[in-house]
Amino acid sequence: MKNKIVAGNWKMNKTFPEAEELLVAIAEGLDEMELETDVVICPPFPYLEMAADISEESNFTVGAQNVSSEEKGAYTGEVSAAMLKSAGADLCIIGHSERRKYFKESDEELAKKTDLLLANDIVPIFCVGETLEERENGTHVETIRRQLRNALFHLDKEDISKVIVAYEPVWAIGTGKTATPAQAQEIHAMIRQTIEEKYGTETAYNMYILYGGSCNPQNALELFCCPDVDGGLIGGASLNADDFIAIVNAAETCQKND
Ligand code: 13P
Repeated sequence: MKNKIVAGNWKMNKTFPEAEELLVAIAEGLDEMELETDVVICPPFPYLEMAADISEESNFTVGAQNVSSEEKGAYTGEVSAAMLKSAGADLCIIGHSERRKYFKESDEELAKKTDLLLANDIVPIFCVGETLEERENGTHVETIRRQLRNALFHLDKEDISKVIVAYEPVWAIGTGKTATPAQAQEIHAMIRQTIEEKYGTETAYNMYILYGGSCNPQNALELFCCPDVDGGLIGGASLNADDFIAIVNAAETCQKND
């Protein structure tokens, strides 16, 4: 049985002292648990090092929310994979729908980001997901398969095995509209099958596929207990220590009942 993964994506929230307070509160909550779940916190760039310091005495690892598609040099404002690693990030979210939409990130750029992260020993948390329009016109499966193919399928078996996929339907992000467990399970199974067709059964079985989109303490248990849902990528609810810990608890409950 795989451990579940619960990752918090703080997005562009919290000042430095607020971030410190939240990290300490989460660390305290986690320290009281006998944790089987792998917990990841993805704060904004300026707080990575602080988060990494606090994580050393606690039960979570630290991830970033983005990385440059260039290795280094004259790219003002960008942050490289090597910088992330040296600041203490062991994972990094890429391809989040907010970045695809507002910053026009392309699949090609995401393929480069994936390679740079892997070269720097950072686990990519690669986001896929359809818009409401794509779901309504029935093209959602093709959209997700294309996102996987274009950004990941140049990888060999060893490298794809290091990647975490997060299914985040765009219509469920920050809207309070969660995918039903049946909808999440259907897409997760499809993602796993897509991986299986290219890389075989073992790689597909071992791949982590997280659900994200209005996940909260009320719906986490049902979602995480779906057979192909290996945990969650949490936005809004990761900004409150009690809610986040409750979601981690939901993952623990699924794991222990499995
Ligand atoms: P919400 O949980 O706020 O809907 O955000 C989900 C998300 O985008 C996580 O990356």
